[in-house]
Amino acid sequence: MKKIYLDNAATTPVAAEVAQEIAELMQSCFGNPSSIHGHGREAKAILEKARRKVAELTGTQPSRIFFTSGGTEADNMAIRQTIAQMGISHVISSPIEHHAVTHTIEELATEGKVSATWLKPDRLGRHSLEDLETALQKNPGCLVSLMHANNEIGTTIDLQAVGQLCRKYGALFHSDTVQTMGHFELNFDALPVDLATCSAHKFHGPKGIGFLYVNLDRVKISPLITGGAQERNLRAGTENLYGIAALAKALELATDGMHEHRQHIYALKMKMSQGLKRLFPDCEFNGSMEESDLFTVLNVSLPPTPDAEMFLMKLDIHGISASGGSACSSGSQKGSHVLSNIGAPEGRPAIRFSFSRYNQIEDVDYALEVLQKIWKPLVQNA
Ligand SMILES: Cc1ncc(COP(=O)(O)O)c(C=O)c1O
Repeated sequence: MKKIYLDNAATTPVAAEVAQEIAELMQSCFGNPSSIHGHGREAKAILEKARRKVAELTGTQPSRIFFTSGGTEADNMAIRQTIAQMGISHVISSPIEHHAVTHTIEELATEGKVSATWLKPDRLGRHSLEDLETALQKNPGCLVSLMHANNEIGTTIDLQAVGQLCRKYGALFHSDTVQTMGHFELNFDALPVDLATCSAHKFHGPKGIGFLYVNLDRVKISPLITGGAQERNLRAGTENLYGIAALAKALELATDGMHEHRQHIYALKMKMSQGLKRLFPDCEFNGSMEESDLFTVLNVSLPPTPDAEMFLMKLDIHGISASGGSACSSGSQKGSHVLSNIGAPEGRPAIRFSFSRYNQIEDVDYALEVLQKIWKPLVQNA
């Protein structure tokens, strides 16, 4: 049976070049970067080379990159530790952020450490700059946390416009850039962004490694994880050397081919959306279809069926991996907080197809063929 992977917003396959480089590194280098002897110095050199590469690829200085265990930890560190260090008492965010952000803010609010304003997204998942400005006028000097691209529906924000508004009102700006890193050009020193997060497994690196970008000119931050002086005293624990080297390599590959990858992936998204419209004329797309938004993600609400739950299962049985919402919360039976907050139609199965540079047009053809095959019996048996 064919196996087609269309869930690249959940995670991506590791690039062969990344796997090979890391396999070699695992054989050749095992020192602890904190040791001062030769083996340690060798490991330290690899670590710092990776940091320099990441900084170069993201338009910033190596001293502003702090490696973490991934996006969730980086989001937690950005939010919790700026609030702890900088006397911040209010956060402006959105209910359609990843749970690494919403749950963290909710927990801090429950503990009485901050109050929060949740901006209301429209049907496309966009937020109005007027709403943001109104909230900033009431809460100058707060923390704003708004993701660059939504992981379920792909809608992006304008980092420049949001960041400039934040600066106007003396607010800090954190953006979860997990879904756009490696897919969009990000030059942190040229952007009004104070904190940004990365996770390597979203661009063909391994899981369990990411980083937090910190604009050290404006941000005072303390460690979330304590117990060692690693990462310039900001993230304790022996560094995930192989993961870090892999992240740098994966980001380099993603950045080198960014333009071609984008064209290729957006063509897949367009072909899939046109095919879906042909098969299901009254389907509704959730989020933006513009190339300037996250071109890797296509979220669709299909026509109503009483057996929506069966739909993904049937796709799976036919070898197609896609997602019914955010895979990050796949353990829970709750519907998607993103789709409900943007007012997506209820009672319709929503599917997120997400593509990578390794998908081919034949994958889309096969997925459309299977969708046509499984849909009829579902409706007829209803
Ligand atoms: C937007 C966004 N933020 C954060 C995360 C969490 O990243 P990680 O899996 O590295 O903890 C994800 C993962 O799906 C994500 O899509």
